[in-house]
Amino acid sequence: MNNERRKKLMKIIAPQHIAITMDGNGRWGKERGKTRSEGHYAGAQTMEHIIEASRDLGIKILTLYAFSSENWKRPLEEVNYLMFLPIKFFKQKLPIFMKKNIRIMISGDLTKVPKRTRNAITKAIEKTKHNTGIIVNFAFNYGGRDEILQAMRRVIQEVRENKVHPEQIDEELVQQFLYTSELPDPDLFIRTGGEKRLSNFLLWQAADAELYFTDQYFPDFTKDFLLEAIYEWQRRKNIDQYDVLRNTV
Ligand code: IPE
Ligand code: IPE
Ligand code: MG
Repeated sequence: MNNERRKKLMKIIAPQHIAITMDGNGRWGKERGKTRSEGHYAGAQTMEHIIEASRDLGIKILTLYAFSSENWKRPLEEVNYLMFLPIKFFKQKLPIFMKKNIRIMISGDLTKVPKRTRNAITKAIEKTKHNTGIIVNFAFNYGGRDEILQAMRRVIQEVRENKVHPEQIDEELVQQFLYTSELPDPDLFIRTGGEKRLSNFLLWQAADAELYFTDQYFPDFTKDFLLEAIYEWQRRKNIDQYDVLRNTV
C-alpha cells in the first residue's frame, strides 16, 4: 500500500480519542548531559509535532498528561520550571493553534496553580474555544483520584439539594462532574518512557481503553512511533485495512 493511500485510510480508522502520558523527559535530558528542565522543554517541542501528526491522522481528541497532582513533590526548581512552561509554550504556539483551528482544553485543578500560569492557560482555552479542529486537552495538575473525589462532592451536593435521589446516581451522572465531562472516553492510552504504570491518569475514563507502552522517552516520540501505536490499536480491534478499502468497517 502506498503512503498516500495509507494516510487516507488512517484518517478513517484512527482512534477518536488518544491519551498520552508524556513520560521520560527528565531521563532524556540526563542521558544527554542536559538538565531535567531541558528535557521538559524538548518534550514541549515534541508535543507540537504530535499534535500536528494527530490532526493529520484524523484524531479528534488528544489528551496529554503534562503535570500530575503528585508532581508537586518534585524539587522546587523543577516544579517552578513546569509551571513556567505553559506560559512560554502558549506564548509561542497560540498563534499557530489559532491558524490551525486547534482547540485547547484543560483537565485538572487550576485553582492550585500559580496565577500567571493559570492566566496563560485560561487565555488559551478562551481564545481557542470556537475552533473546530482537533481538541488538545492538557491534563494539568490532574489526578484521577482527585477528579473522582471532587465529582463525589458535587454529586452529594446534588443529593443534598434534592435534585437527585441516591438511586439515580449512575455512570452518566458521575461523568457530568468529571474534568472531561465534554469528552468521550479515550480509545487508546499510550505511555512513553518505559514505565508501565497508570500514575493516577484517567482512572475512570480509561476503563475500556487499549493500553500501549513504549520505551521511547517522550522527546523522542515521533509521528512514526505514534503510528506504531495506532497500528497496534487497529490490530487489537481487528481492523483490517482491506476491509476499510471495501467499506466494511
Ligand atoms: C514526564 O517526564 C513529564 C512530567 C512529569 C512533567 P518525567 O519528568 O517524569 O521524566 P522521567 O520519568 O523522570 O524521565
Ligand atoms: C506521570 O509521570 C505524570 C506525567 C507524565 C505528567 P511521572 O513520572 O510523574 O509518574 P511516576 O512518578 O513515574 O508514577
Ligand atoms: Mg517520569
